[in-house]
Amino acid sequence: MLSSRMQPAGHWISTSYFPRKLLGAIFILYTLIMGVSAFTTPSKEHTVTAGNCSFRGKHYKVELRVASEPVVLRCPLVWPQLGAAASPQDLVTWRRNGSAQRLPGAELRMQAKESALWILPAVQGDAGTYVCTVRDASHCEEMSIELKIFDDVETSLPFISYPQILTLGTNSMLMCPDTLDFARDKADRSIRWYKGSVLLGGDGGRFHTVEEKRRLLIVNVSMEDEGYYRCVLTFAHEGREYNVTRNVRLRVHKRTNTVPVVISPLDTISASLGSRLTIPCKVSLGAGTPLTTSLWWMANITQVESAYSRGRVTEGPRREYSENGENFIEVPLNFDPVIREDLNTDFKCIVSSTVGLQTLRTTVKEAPSTFSWEIALAPLSLVLLVLGGICMHQLCKRRSGKAYGLTTLRTGFQDFHPIPEK
Ligand SMILES: *[C@@H]1O[C@H](CO)[C@@H](O)[C@H](O)[C@H]1NC(C)=O
Ligand SMILES: *[C@@H]1O[C@H](CO)[C@@H](O)[C@H](O)[C@H]1NC(C)=O
Ligand SMILES: *[C@@H]1O[C@H](CO)[C@@H](O)[C@H](O)[C@H]1NC(C)=O
Ligand SMILES: *[C@@H]1O[C@H](CO)[C@@H](O)[C@H](O)[C@H]1NC(C)=O
Repeated sequence: MLSSRMQPAGHWISTSYFPRKLLGAIFILYTLIMGVSAFTTPSKEHTVTAGNCSFRGKHYKVELRVASEPVVLRCPLVWPQLGAAASPQDLVTWRRNGSAQRLPGAELRMQAKESALWILPAVQGDAGTYVCTVRDASHCEEMSIELKIFDDVETSLPFISYPQILTLGTNSMLMCPDTLDFARDKADRSIRWYKGSVLLGGDGGRFHTVEEKRRLLIVNVSMEDEGYYRCVLTFAHEGREYNVTRNVRLRVHKRTNTVPVVISPLDTISASLGSRLTIPCKVSLGAGTPLTTSLWWMANITQVESAYSRGRVTEGPRREYSENGENFIEVPLNFDPVIREDLNTDFKCIVSSTVGLQTLRTTVKEAPSTFSWEIALAPLSLVLLVLGGICMHQLCKRRSGKAYGLTTLRTGFQDFHPIPEK
């Protein structure tokens, strides 16, 4: 089975977050579609003045690029596919932060193409913050994106490399990341893969370039395959050839077939209405890696985040830890507070790993009240007992002799004994 995992540079993200990421992606897609459709409303008159543009902040991703190579800055406000088709050229404009001058201006190395700014090729002086502005008759929004340019690739490898993970003993592929802007036609480009200075593939060995997919297939991945890889894409643009280099840092992790064992939650959890409650979902992975296992909670058939938009019930942060060589993951479910509806809701902790999905359900039960009549009445009955005893004693003393009175008192003691035995 082929498996590979890709992340944006600088972030280790495991596909184990897939279900939540999918929801996130759908939400972002929806937002972007709404956003783009707002920008592409019919009127093309530019009546909005530069002054009243709303600034949407700095894009989370910093473009880390190498000097003397082409750079494509995409406006994060525009969804690439839709933007290419829908936005007129003049809808998106670029400038450097702190400058009013539109780009490319007189800069011959730069071109505005669709919603992107191309720099062919970048030099050290291009580093800095760029602002893209998207406007139509009624809206104007801006966002900035930072570009860093590295001269010395060798020493900056740890910063500019894209982390990827493959599983030991499998046949898996590395991917040449962030290259889709360059030469969509296969004819216009070629890709070469290197480890250090060694060109990979083509010799019938364990490495094979899968060119049309911009991937490198590694047969029977071994621990020694860890390290830095480099893919170089050569493409032609307006009669000139350019190289685009991406660096990938490969980590190999051991295959684990250990089935995660769900330790908690319990079947039913007792809680008092109105109080706070935390139900941990705790999973033992044995010696397995937490990277490939994800945990999340559902209420009935809905993800907790969507089921409780006001946040009365929330998922706590994921914790990964080891005890005596055993790895654990824990994700708590927090109630603040517990209400009656929770007693009818089916809470499930879902564990997704390489061996499949496991589900553990739990229900919240109303805790028996700690207030008990037996305990509350005990002191009262004692008082009654004593009073009764004294009373009886006085009565009997008056009626007959002292000895008889004592016997009656004993009988009375038994009659008055209201403390129930369990
Ligand atoms: C943009 O420039 C202004 C002043 O020139 C500065 O205060 C601001 O921090 C810059 N923003 C970014 C995101 O670099
Ligand atoms: C994969 O490589 C390991 C050594 O790294 C070797 O022991 C094993 O036989 C290889 N498996 C296959 C199917 O070639
Ligand atoms: C691209 O890289 C190849 C191989 O490293 C080199 O021969 C070629 O001159 C480079 N082209 C450019 C435009 O830098
Ligand atoms: C879950 O389903 C039960 C029964 O259908 C319902 O009473 C409860 O309100 C539901 N809980 C949530 C959070 O939707």
